[in-house]
Amino acid sequence: MQAVLEACDAEVWPEELPPERAVLLEKVAGVDGLLCLLTDHIDGEVLDAAGPQLKVVSNHAVGYDNIDIAAATARRIPVGNTPGILTDATADFAFALLLAAGRRVVAGDHYVRAGRWRTWGPSLLLGSDFAGATLGIVGFGRIGQAVARRAVGFGLRILFSDPGEPLEAMQASGAQRVDLETLLAEADFVSLHVPLNDETHHLINAAALQRMKPSAVLVNTARGGVVDPQALYSALKDGQIAAAGLDVTEPEPLPADSPLLELDNLILAPHIASASQHTRSMMAWMAAQNLIAGLQGKPLPNCVNPEVYAG
Ligand code: DGY
Repeated sequence: MQAVLEACDAEVWPEELPPERAVLLEKVAGVDGLLCLLTDHIDGEVLDAAGPQLKVVSNHAVGYDNIDIAAATARRIPVGNTPGILTDATADFAFALLLAAGRRVVAGDHYVRAGRWRTWGPSLLLGSDFAGATLGIVGFGRIGQAVARRAVGFGLRILFSDPGEPLEAMQASGAQRVDLETLLAEADFVSLHVPLNDETHHLINAAALQRMKPSAVLVNTARGGVVDPQALYSALKDGQIAAAGLDVTEPEPLPADSPLLELDNLILAPHIASASQHTRSMMAWMAAQNLIAGLQGKPLPNCVNPEVYAG
C-alpha cells in the first residue's frame, strides 16, 4: 500500500467488509486507477461510473472472475492480476486439506476436545491411505502442477484433466492425462484447480459426484462456484463420497444456516489458501506494480487482457 500512496493520491477503503454497490459506484467516479479485491464485483457499470479517464484495474488476486474482462477490454482498460507468487502457498493449502480431510485431523481434534478420548483404539478415526492411492487434479495450470509435485513425495499416482497442453510438466511429475469422467471414477483424492467461468461453473455437480468412489476425498481451493453446494451436501450426507475440504464456497462467506455446516465429514476454511505472510505481501506488491504501471501508461507487468495494447 505504501508504494501506491507514494505513487498517487489514493483513497483507501478502510472497512473489513467490501463497499456496498452504491458506495463503490460513487467512490470510483473520476479515478484513474482502481485496485480491487476479489470481493469487489467490477463490471461495465462500475467502469462507466469511474469514467473515460480510467486507465487500469488491478486485482489483488490471481483469479479474476470478479471482473467483467470483456467489459474492460471493450473500454481498452487493462486488468492486472497476481499470478505465480501464490502458487506454492495455495498448493500447500490444497495438500493440507487433502491430508486433513483424508486423515480426519479436524475430527480428531474435536474428539479430544470433547473429552471422548478414553484409550487407543485399533479402529478409532480411520482415514485414507495416501501412498499408492490415486490423486486426480482437475486443472493442470501452475497450482495444479505444484500440487502434483507435492503428490510425488507422498507416493501418489497422479491423473489430471485439463484442456491445455502442459507436456513438460506432465512428464516431470509422471502425471497422466485423462478425461474428467475417468479422473473422477479412478481418483481416491480429487483436487480442483480450474478458474471459474461459464464452462467450469458447477463442474462438480450431482452427476460428477456420482462418478466418484464412496471412499473419495474432494478438495476445492479454486473458486466456490466450481462445486454445486447442494449436490456436495447430498453426496457427503449420503456417503457418495467420504469427505471434502473447501477453502472456497458458493456463496462466500457461507451463510450461517448453510446445511454444509452440519456435516462432520467436511472441513471448511475461509478462503485462506494463499494466506501466508510472504505470499500476501507479494500479492499486494504485484497488485501495486500493476496499478502504478497502468497509471503511468505503461504495460502492466501481469495483464489478463493484453489485447487492449494491440493496434
Ligand atoms: C486468488 O488470488 O485468486 C486467490 O483466490 C486469493 O487467495
